[in-house]
Amino acid sequence: MEFVTYEVEGQVGIITINRPKALNALNSAVLDDLNAALDGVDLEAVRALILTGSGEKSFVAGADIGEMSALTKAEGEAFGKKGNDIFRRIETFPIPVIAAVNGFALGGGCELSMSCDIRICSDNAVFGQPEVGLGITPGFGGTQRLARIISVGMAKQMIYTARNIKADEALRIDLVNAVYTQEELMPAAKKMAAGIAANAPIAVRNCKKAINEGLQVDMDQAIVIEEKLFGDCFETHDQKEGMGAFLEKRKEKNFINK
Ligand code: CAA
Repeated sequence: MEFVTYEVEGQVGIITINRPKALNALNSAVLDDLNAALDGVDLEAVRALILTGSGEKSFVAGADIGEMSALTKAEGEAFGKKGNDIFRRIETFPIPVIAAVNGFALGGGCELSMSCDIRICSDNAVFGQPEVGLGITPGFGGTQRLARIISVGMAKQMIYTARNIKADEALRIDLVNAVYTQEELMPAAKKMAAGIAANAPIAVRNCKKAINEGLQVDMDQAIVIEEKLFGDCFETHDQKEGMGAFLEKRKEKNFINK
């Protein structure tokens, strides 16, 4: 992969968008590499992912404006679908994905962070949906996810005005969970990922599924989704291990993802 690196540290996978000359902007090749990186995740061994950008300035500065500039209507729609398919894959990826936003997260970059389960950022992070200033709508899920993550009114304000916001405002409106210095960001992301990885993996996956799928339906259907996923846990080794450790007053737990 030319534009994305993938490393594994313990039980945590780290995907880094690596096109620093263009502030990690997403062209078709970067999107293909991101998809290939997801293909490479060993779901038996890896229990959480971190997604970040290379360099100290940018997470992802958006979809590639040069590549988009000459698209036809049909090509524009196809490019939107390409990004949306990959971002939806991240959103529904079986294990949790933490976005460690280390700078600009504009347009497709803000949208990429929103396809992750959890967003934390550095104090130099800048979020925004500048698309209407370029004559387009957000195209990789921004019109849908922003209004589901923050308030509808604030999402509309950000999208209609195309005004960027800094890390402290992103924290205030709940777009990110926490802000760190640049030096602290990756250690904090790794600590959070390791904390997730220490828990029973099937239970964690079932929680992701229950939250994501439950939010798409009414409460009566949502609690049925939860009941099924809750019940499924009782067939696992790790439920027996987790409850056994509690009952035996044992701190060490041997979760084996089964
Ligand atoms: N597409 C293509 N190239 C980009 C880019 C993008 N989205 N963002 C930055 N770059 C390139 C610049 O063209 C520049 O390349 P050159 O050195 O070859 O000229 C390089 O990255 C460095 O950028 P700047 O010189 O502009 O750096 P800066 O510090 O002065 O400004 C910035 C940083 C404010 C992020 C500015 O680069 C910028 O405004 N970028 C565009 C942000 C944007 O509008 N993103 C949304 C794109 S639309 C979209 O994403 C649609 C969608 O929803 C799918």
